[in-house]
Amino acid sequence: MAVGEIDASGGRQYHGVGMAKPRRGDTIELQIDDLAFGGDGVGRLDGYVMFVRGAVPGDLVRVRVTESRARYGRGAIVSIVHPSADRVDAPCPYFGSCGGCRLQHLAYPAQLAFKEKQVRDCLARLGGLDAPEIRPIMGAADPYAYRNKMEFTIAGSPGAPTLGLHQAERYDVVLDIERCLLQSETMNTLLAEVRRDVRERGLSVYDPDSEQGLLRFVTLREARRSGEAMVNVVASSPDVETLGPLAVSLRARVPATASVVLTVNSKKASVAAGTEEHVLLGREHITESLDGIAFEISAGSFFQTNTVQAERLFQVVRDAAGLTGAETVVDLYCGTGAISLLLARQARWVYGIELIPAAVADATRNARANGITNATFLCGEVRHVLPDLVRQGVRADVAVADPPRAGFHPKALSVFAALEARRIVYVSCNPATLARDLGDLTQRGYRPEWVQPVDMFPQTPHIEVVARLARA
Ligand SMILES: C[S@@+](CC[C@H](N)C(=O)[O-])C[C@H]1O[C@@H](n2cnc3c(N)ncnc32)[C@H](O)[C@@H]1O
Repeated sequence: MAVGEIDASGGRQYHGVGMAKPRRGDTIELQIDDLAFGGDGVGRLDGYVMFVRGAVPGDLVRVRVTESRARYGRGAIVSIVHPSADRVDAPCPYFGSCGGCRLQHLAYPAQLAFKEKQVRDCLARLGGLDAPEIRPIMGAADPYAYRNKMEFTIAGSPGAPTLGLHQAERYDVVLDIERCLLQSETMNTLLAEVRRDVRERGLSVYDPDSEQGLLRFVTLREARRSGEAMVNVVASSPDVETLGPLAVSLRARVPATASVVLTVNSKKASVAAGTEEHVLLGREHITESLDGIAFEISAGSFFQTNTVQAERLFQVVRDAAGLTGAETVVDLYCGTGAISLLLARQARWVYGIELIPAAVADATRNARANGITNATFLCGEVRHVLPDLVRQGVRADVAVADPPRAGFHPKALSVFAALEARRIVYVSCNPATLARDLGDLTQRGYRPEWVQPVDMFPQTPHIEVVARLARA
């Protein structure tokens, strides 16, 4: 068939370059040469950018065009003409349909190379920066079984419940996941036991349409250093009587189960959080230790999900902060205070600022439990709390910031400069907003010295980066 000819299905066939923008339904042959932020393969047809789910750089693929916009299109793989040398067989049977992992089909060294490249591209393209040194990405020694927390949805009918993760792009479909390769065997055993109990006792499952039924989510956690496990069952009502036996059978099957909690979410919002907590068994928290500091983690607490890589990330933060014991440190977006508490040992005083009251309570409690008396945690939005702190005369020698994906609020960034920090350590989970904020901080008299990508989330496209800036 000639280039551009109509095939039997009515779509045109394209091979190679030099073509007009393809139309929806066309079949094209595409060389994939890059990976987009979300993990899709990227190919170009005479400069026209196509995103292809499931394709990896180095693949030559035949693609059915599913979307054709003015500036880019999307396609679905029809066949792989030549697989990339970096393509591997995904070990998980749910890969491709599960919305959890996006990159299992890409060899781990290639995942790392692309993440590093994305950091480089973002800093070059978006920040307009004096190029800081980009250090080689720190990969994980074990790119599987690294997650210390997994949240599974419970759906289906009482006789045939499904416990698992959402299908990719389908928030209404839950796949029944027997084992997840991102969590440990202990967590997989707990998942199997919850499923068995729900099935055998015919426990009712929440139906979002009728808003009837009990079970909604189960969140599993395992503290890697202490070995303690936590199961948090999210249900629509405080039915302790029905769920009590589940807690007993979980402990019998996995003796490391130190905490089983029932969280009540009676609202329509489909979130694994609630307003009311009941301890079904054991304590209301488990304990994890990071670099000699014990963290009490309760059902609603934020904690870094990859313990091993978090320790390496925090080591980078500590090196970047370069503390001697005399410094005042301000830790913005401090969460449950992990960075604040680790730095407090080498600082004169640490101020942590965080929006979520429960996280601030965790941080305060963890400081006390570890005998740390030189840390103050303040609750509120950075853009509101930081000006108060500055007005009180607080200045920082070192400022640390670990904002959410959106990065700094512009108002927060403008007050940030008033802290007069000599050094800034910026921890980012989004290289695009990092680049934007580094560009802004450069305008405010800071010089980005180096950035260190750390792979916290193997098999997924997520990227974590630490950047160090000095006052110019
Ligand atoms: C990436 S987490 C930080 C985690 C923390 N550094 C740790 O390792 O535990 C970002 C935190 O910023 C908080 N946050 C989001 N928006 C905020 C705001 N406007 N002001 C203060 N904190 C905010 C979130 O609640 C979350 O705890």
